Amino acid sequence: METNNNEKIYYPSKQVIDNANIKEYDKLYKNSIAHPEKFWEEQAGYLSWYKKWDKVLDSSNPPFYKWFEGAKTNIILNALDRHQTSANRNKLALMWEGEPGDTRSFSYHALNREVCQFANILKSMGVKKGDVVTIYMPQIPEQIFAMLACAKIGAAHSVVYGGFSHESLADRINDANSRVVITADGGYRRGKVVEMKSVVNKAMELSPTMEICITVKRTGVDVYMENGRDYWYHDLKGLPIASTKCETEQMDSSDMLFLLYTSGSTGKPKALVHTHGGYSVYTSTTHRMVFDIKPEDRYWCAADPGWITGHSYIVYGPLINGATILLYEGAPNHPYPDRWWKMVDRYGINILYTSPTAIRGLMRFGDSWPNRNNLSSLRLLGSVGEPINPEAWRWFYEVIGNGKCPIIDTWWQTETGGFMITPIPVTPLKPGSATKPFFGCVISIVDEKGKEVKTGEEGNLVIKTPWPGMTAGVYRDPQRYIDTYWKKYQKQGWYLTGDAAKRDKDGYFWIIGRTDDVIKVSGYRLGSAEIESVMAKHPAIAESAAIGLPHAIKGNAIHITAVLRNGFKSSKELEHELTAYMIEHLGPIARPEEIIFADMLPKTRSGKIMRRVLKARALGLPEGDLSTMDE
Ligand code: WT7
Repeated sequence: METNNNEKIYYPSKQVIDNANIKEYDKLYKNSIAHPEKFWEEQAGYLSWYKKWDKVLDSSNPPFYKWFEGAKTNIILNALDRHQTSANRNKLALMWEGEPGDTRSFSYHALNREVCQFANILKSMGVKKGDVVTIYMPQIPEQIFAMLACAKIGAAHSVVYGGFSHESLADRINDANSRVVITADGGYRRGKVVEMKSVVNKAMELSPTMEICITVKRTGVDVYMENGRDYWYHDLKGLPIASTKCETEQMDSSDMLFLLYTSGSTGKPKALVHTHGGYSVYTSTTHRMVFDIKPEDRYWCAADPGWITGHSYIVYGPLINGATILLYEGAPNHPYPDRWWKMVDRYGINILYTSPTAIRGLMRFGDSWPNRNNLSSLRLLGSVGEPINPEAWRWFYEVIGNGKCPIIDTWWQTETGGFMITPIPVTPLKPGSATKPFFGCVISIVDEKGKEVKTGEEGNLVIKTPWPGMTAGVYRDPQRYIDTYWKKYQKQGWYLTGDAAKRDKDGYFWIIGRTDDVIKVSGYRLGSAEIESVMAKHPAIAESAAIGLPHAIKGNAIHITAVLRNGFKSSKELEHELTAYMIEHLGPIARPEEIIFADMLPKTRSGKIMRRVLKARALGLPEGDLSTMDE
């Protein structure tokens, strides 16, 4: 085997191989794609079902594939209910640490009681099967209880990340026609209270469908509560309606489990739908095989539950597998840059799954911070969200993993539900490559016409066959689902990922990045059009173009080129004002790195902004084909 640039290959140690549940990839992979339905049926057999499926895969109406058709289940049956009658009942399900240092923990028994109470409260508020409940919360145990409670009663949750503004929250509430929102007064971040209920209050003013808001008291900040609309969670929990027993709703396999909004190339974020059956099988199988989870493990996915990583690999996959998870509320470097390393030490974490941004952010504080803590409990490390640069990879591997923990670089998307390209612990590793497809997944790199590109050449990453974790589509917009993902290779029936990639001669995949106008900032996904449409609302702005440019910590940062309306003059003050405007209207994650002013934007003759030209100019690269550019 060779690396791209003759770099070192990291082979698994004898200890890793001895410890591994799956010792060989190739044969199992070959079998899995030769008989995918058999493979997935076998995996589904690890789970409990109220009623088994009539058909593993119904592909009568592509691309709307249905997995485990005819089956009756609920993800809660597997994530909670079945653990109540096994030894897992007494096992730690959730260990939690708040940023100020307060801790709480829950066994599977205790977690189930909390979820039942929350579910009964939601029911008493009239929430029923098929409703969408919006969750806008800090990373506290109640965030997870709320998600599980919705699932239990057959309502779909729509978790909106706490870094979004009240307008972004209102857009998502309105798009989903959500009646009920669950929030907290606030959460802690870098030693300060980040208010949330006040954001929800502002969002509700813009949301005609909103009737009820349940608020968890976390920080004690003053909040405005309106009679008949607002309820404190702790008040409701004290009422007889909040019984600790609650029947789990029986769902069809393809019934909706949750919506999750994500950015694409158009202005409006879209809600992707995931379902009870296929998603249960996919998240638990990938989590079990890739993280090689053992009963004694303490597993920490340091993402926010508000993103797909948290949904699949903090909450559902691990809980289905009966794992012990850790959730942490705050910043990785508060009060000191070894907060995370202290927690790895204190909780005896065996598996740590995080993002390149977080790794780079902690790496800049130097080795002494991790080195003063005992990290020897770590067995596996994971990375997700964007390509990991080899320097960060090696630091993670050598300094955090002490040269003994394989790095599981998982490529996947909100749409895929779970890992698609990833090593398993015994896979030889090349820093920066997500290695090979997961079992049952057929993935390829093709040119514009659909022809497989040559080894080492760049092309579009496509997924050629259905998999159980795949989204069921865009909420109430089937056409948008087809147009965005399936139209380009409609003839072949392939799913377009939106990523460019290449494959080396060992069959290893190297992800290059997005080919559409999606910008990955600190691993978070933002659309150029989404940013530009907020800019356009500012009185000084005629039009603008947002691009992503490389950033040492964030991976990419937002750079905006703006054209001013007549009568406005460019200035530093205006740049600051526009930055504040973006943060207020889209949220802190959309903070632009730089706003520059120009007289006009490069456009095609049909009027489309040529963002790639702006990008090439900023990077000092050739501007490429300019034949379509308007003179
Ligand atoms: C996009 C999906 C999947 C959970 C978090 C992000 C990029 C994701 C990797 C990786 C290179 C990666 C891709 C993808 N991406 N993981 N390991 N290596 N790129 O989910 O917000 O839906 O974003 O993230 O560009 O298309 P998401």
